[in-house]
This record gives sequence, structure tokens and C-alpha cells, in this order.
Amino acid sequence: MKEGNRVKSFTLLSMIMLAKILFALFSLSVCATTGGAAAAPTDKPHIVFVLVDDWGFADASFRNPAIKTPNFQYLVDNGLILNRHYVFKYCSPSRASFLTGRFPHHVHQWNPTPLGMVGTNINMTMLPAKLKNAGYATHMVGKWHQGLYDPAYLPINRGFDTSSGFLQAEEGHFNQTIGCAVDFWKNDAPDTRNGTCDSYIYNKDLTTVFNEHDASKPLFLYLPLHNVHAPIEAPQEWLDLYPANSTCDTRRILQAMVSVADNVTGHVVNLLRENDMWDNTLMVVSADNGGADCKGSNYPLKGSKYTFFEGGVRVIAFASGGLIPAGRRGKSTDGFIHIADWYTTFCKMAGVDHNDSGKGKFPVDGLDVWPIITGENEETQHEEIVLGYDFDYSPSHTHQGAIIAGRHKLIVGNQYTHCNSLMWSPLNYPCSNGSVSEDCDPYCLYDIIDDPSERNDLSKKELVILKDMLDRYNSYSKEPRSMQDQGIHNMADIPRGKQLCEYFSTRGMYWQPWVNV
Ligand SMILES: *[C@@H]1O[C@H](CO)[C@@H](O)[C@H](O)[C@H]1NC(C)=O
Ligand SMILES: *[C@@H]1O[C@H](CO)[C@@H](O)[C@H](O)[C@H]1NC(C)=O
Ligand SMILES: *[C@@H]1O[C@H](CO)[C@@H](O)[C@H](O)[C@H]1NC(C)=O
Ligand SMILES: *[C@@H]1O[C@H](CO)[C@@H](O)[C@H](O)[C@H]1NC(C)=O
Ligand SMILES: *[C@@H]1O[C@H](CO)[C@@H](O)[C@H](O)[C@H]1NC(C)=O
Ligand SMILES: *[C@@H]1O[C@H](CO)[C@@H](O)[C@H](O)[C@H]1NC(C)=O
Ligand SMILES: *[C@@H]1O[C@H](CO)[C@@H](O)[C@H](O)[C@H]1NC(C)=O
Repeated sequence: MKEGNRVKSFTLLSMIMLAKILFALFSLSVCATTGGAAAAPTDKPHIVFVLVDDWGFADASFRNPAIKTPNFQYLVDNGLILNRHYVFKYCSPSRASFLTGRFPHHVHQWNPTPLGMVGTNINMTMLPAKLKNAGYATHMVGKWHQGLYDPAYLPINRGFDTSSGFLQAEEGHFNQTIGCAVDFWKNDAPDTRNGTCDSYIYNKDLTTVFNEHDASKPLFLYLPLHNVHAPIEAPQEWLDLYPANSTCDTRRILQAMVSVADNVTGHVVNLLRENDMWDNTLMVVSADNGGADCKGSNYPLKGSKYTFFEGGVRVIAFASGGLIPAGRRGKSTDGFIHIADWYTTFCKMAGVDHNDSGKGKFPVDGLDVWPIITGENEETQHEEIVLGYDFDYSPSHTHQGAIIAGRHKLIVGNQYTHCNSLMWSPLNYPCSNGSVSEDCDPYCLYDIIDDPSERNDLSKKELVILKDMLDRYNSYSKEPRSMQDQGIHNMADIPRGKQLCEYFSTRGMYWQPWVNV
């Protein structure tokens, strides 16, 4: 029996090898006669995910003609606006949710502190690792924000073939400096090209990704841009697009930063076209959270980044590329999508199992949203979307959370804003100040279908609905607390402050891992 099996597999192997040799000879003769043909293109779809940082719901030409975004406009005209695309209310958790397919409270709801031994749960299989298993080339250009203290947390150790960009949340756009050192990183070492506009370097790196891409492989490109996150800075040539007296300074620079993000995204579209990949591409563009208060416009939504109001968590997003069915182009969908859903959707498109269950980690929450894209079924398959749960990271926002079920959204806890921002921003926010931040203490309840701007709090009127929403929300208290928000507990035993800078000074003054190196 054993022997027979071995013979069988030997024969099979020989046949495969023979087929390969014949194919190689055939290819050679084809090359000889045609003078060099490209490798057979892949059947699997190319997947590009662009994340624009702190981008306001209304800050693109298709929502506000004052914003100059010809490339985004093209993508929307030839794609589908994702009108109800939900994320976390700020940065790192939205990215972790995308990369692991979990709702934020099932991965983490904190931003990694620069000096903390924190990073996205190392036991979770990130999306690029899944896609790599499915034969994809996987590349990342831009901002990481998923931990850096240990090399195990770096992009190339979590499934990316290559990465370039920076590891933390923000830095000078022109000097790549944060605190005492430069945060600029390529694969497994500091990137010494610091000292110029980061977006221009990303454009170059994107060209390299495509130049070096093996056409026989499907491509996964993750492009989490630094724009339009603070510091609010843009090159003069982009500022020149907006008249000096058109609006206040912050707003003018922010608009220019949106145009830069538009340019980098457009560059990727051109590269996909030049490499005959566009027709077989799904490209998704989204913000990681709502526009920041006193900077971006989330018109007509309420609130901004750092709040669970729609302006913080329902973000500008669209899908485009040759794979969008012709009948869906130039349209928009109201189907609910959470950023965690892309994990499952992309795995399915790539033909790899999205299951990532195991000890000490919650299963993947994301659901396949391809039927929403095609229009086959625009109803959400989620019983409920947990935007955040029992979040008490900082003393100023104790025990916050939010959940969507059906047409209702429950918000728990005090919502926090940085400045005297307008709760409902006009398109050209924020050159005037408005009311102070609003409490949802203990709760706010909205019908987000009939009242998308959340002007009518139902929490004191609709007590039956409130109870149902609270029951749903509170059911998450039955989950093991130690598995929620993983990583934030590992804050001890680190070289803090001056010590860390001293460490970096012996390492060329670049941010880098300081444990297990
Ligand atoms: C990852 O798994 C290992 C082995 O099961 C376990 O010891 C560790 O605590 C887990 N880490 C996290 C962050 O869950
Ligand atoms: C880097 O740029 C930022 C933002 O413009 C600025 O605040 C910071 O002082 C600069 N750092 C250095 C070392 O020049
Ligand atoms: C890049 O960063 C290094 C380390 O801090 C610094 O010495 C160098 O001057 C920087 N280069 C530019 C062009 O800013
Ligand atoms: C803004 O400047 C332009 C020319 O730069 C001028 O035509 C226009 O009148 C100015 N608008 C205001 C409101 O000052
Ligand atoms: C990006 O900007 C550069 C410089 O202005 C321009 O030459 C290029 O055509 C732009 N690319 C796209 C795709 O918009
Ligand atoms: C997911 O994977 C785990 C661990 O490999 C396995 O125990 C479980 O049965 C799988 N679940 C599904 C739905 O495939
Ligand atoms: C808005 O309020 C902030 C914080 O109170 C203040 O610093 C800023 O100057 C105000 N801006 C305007 C335009 O009134």
C-alpha cells in the first residue's frame, strides 16, 4: 500500500515535471518567435486598498466642488460610492480591524504609544499573510501604526513582501521626524531617504513595486497614506491650487493635502493601467476615521474624529477598478460595510479561507461584502456592527462604545472633541468655532437612516428600542475581558524617554525596534 502510494506520487511528480519542461520549451519557442512575451497573467484579482488618514466625509470633489480631486472623481465616476462604510473613531484600531478582520474591541481600541511594548495581537494572521498563502505578491507603502517595539510586529513579519513608509502615527511630512528621531523604514532597516516630501517618495516606491512585479502573480497593495493627518503641511505647488484668500490657512493646507493624496492614488491607477492590470483590479479607497475637528468637513454628518457620531465613524469610501460591474459604475450603495469586512471579502476573492480561529483570540468578525458591491444583495448580513465596546483607554473618555443594529445606533458615554468644533460642519468648515462637545452620558440613540445627521436623540423617548440596544451592547460583557483590547496591558519594563533617545542615538537616530534585536 505504502509502496504503491510512493510509486503513484513519483509518477505524478514526473508527469508534472514533464509538463513543466514541455511548457518551458513551448514558452521558449514562443519567446523566440515573438521576441519576448510576458508571463501569463494571473486569474486572481489584483487588490488595492488605499487608506487616507483623517479624511473628511465631504472632502472630495464629488461632495464639495471646491476640493480638487480629479483622480478620486475618476474612480467614483467609474466605481461605486460606499455610502455607509464604518470604521473606528481613530487610527490604529481601524487599521487593525482591516488587517485582522475583527471588530475593534476584538483586536484593540488603543493607539500604540511610541514607548510602549504594544502591537496588534501577534497571534492573529494579518490579511497580507492570508493573501500571500493564496499566491499573492504583497506590498505596503505608507503608515503602519501596528506596533514596532519588537521586529515580529513589523510589516514584513506580518505578511508583506516589502514595506516602506513609517511605523508610528504621524511625523513631519518633510523631515520624517517624530520626537527625537526619524521614523522612516524600508523592509527591515531604516530608510535613509528622509528629508523630503513623504508623498513624493511614496510615488517613487509605488513605481518600483510595479516595475518589479511578477505579472504571473496577483498583487495585493496596501497604501495607508500619511495625508491628510497632522502636521498640516503641503508642498507649495499643491497649495497653489487653492487661492490664498479662499479660506483659513489650516483649511487651505488641508485641501492641498487631499489633492496630494488624490495624486498618489491616481499614480497607482496609472501604474495598474500601464501594466495591463486595471481590468482585473478591485480598488477600495477609504478614510481610517472621520475628518479631524477644526480641520476636515464631515458635512452633513455630526461630529468628527474621536467621536462615535457618524462624522467620526461613517467615512468617505468608494470601490473602483475593472472588476466593478458595469451596471454599478457611477452609482452609490447604502449597504452597511465595516472595515473588518474586507478581510473576509478579499480572502474569498483570493480563494483562501478567512478562518483565523485559535486559542486566545476572537474569530474573524468580517463578512463578505462582494454582494453589496455587485448589487446582488445590499442588505447587511451583520446582526449588529460593534463600533466600539467599553472603551476606557483615557480618563477623559470613560467607558465609551457604540453599536449599530438595523436602523438604530446606540452611543455610550461622553464624546470628546479637541477644540470648540462645530457639531455639524458646513462644507467649508472650520473657519469659525461652534458649540462645545456633546455628551452621550449615559446614552444617545439615533435612527441613522431617517436622521443621518443625528439631530434627534431617541434615548429618552424610545425606551423599548433603547433596552434592546443596551441588551445587545451589554452582551459583550460576557466575553473574556482579557481577550478584548489585547496588548494595552503590556506597558511595563521599557526604556522610557531619554533612555530611548539615547538608544536611538547609537542606532543612527532612527526609530526602530528595541526588543529582541
Ligand atoms: C499568543 O499565543 C501564545 C501561545 O499560545 C500565547 O502564549 C500568547 O499569550 C498569545 N499572545 C496573545 C497576545 O494572545
Ligand atoms: C519636522 O517637521 C515638523 C513639522 O513641520 C516640525 O514641527 C519639527 O520641528 C521638524 N523637526 C525637525 C527636527 O526639524
Ligand atoms: C535623515 O535623518 C538622519 C538621522 O536623524 C539625519 O542625520 C539626516 O540629516 C537626515 N537627512 C535629511 C536629508 O534630512
Ligand atoms: C481673492 O483673490 C483673488 C485674486 O487673487 C481676487 O480676485 C478675489 O477678489 C479675492 N477674494 C476676496 C474675497 O478677497
Ligand atoms: C501628480 O502630480 C504631478 C506633479 O504635479 C503630475 O505631473 C502628475 O501628472 C500627477 N499625477 C496624477 C496621476 O494626477
Ligand atoms: C477554523 O480553524 C480552527 C483552527 O484551525 C478550527 O478548529 C475550526 O474548526 C475552523 N472553523 C471553521 C468554521 O472552519
Ligand atoms: C476656535 O477655538 C479655539 C479653542 O478655543 C481657539 O484656539 C481658536 O482661536 C478659535 N478659532 C477661531 C477662528 O475663533
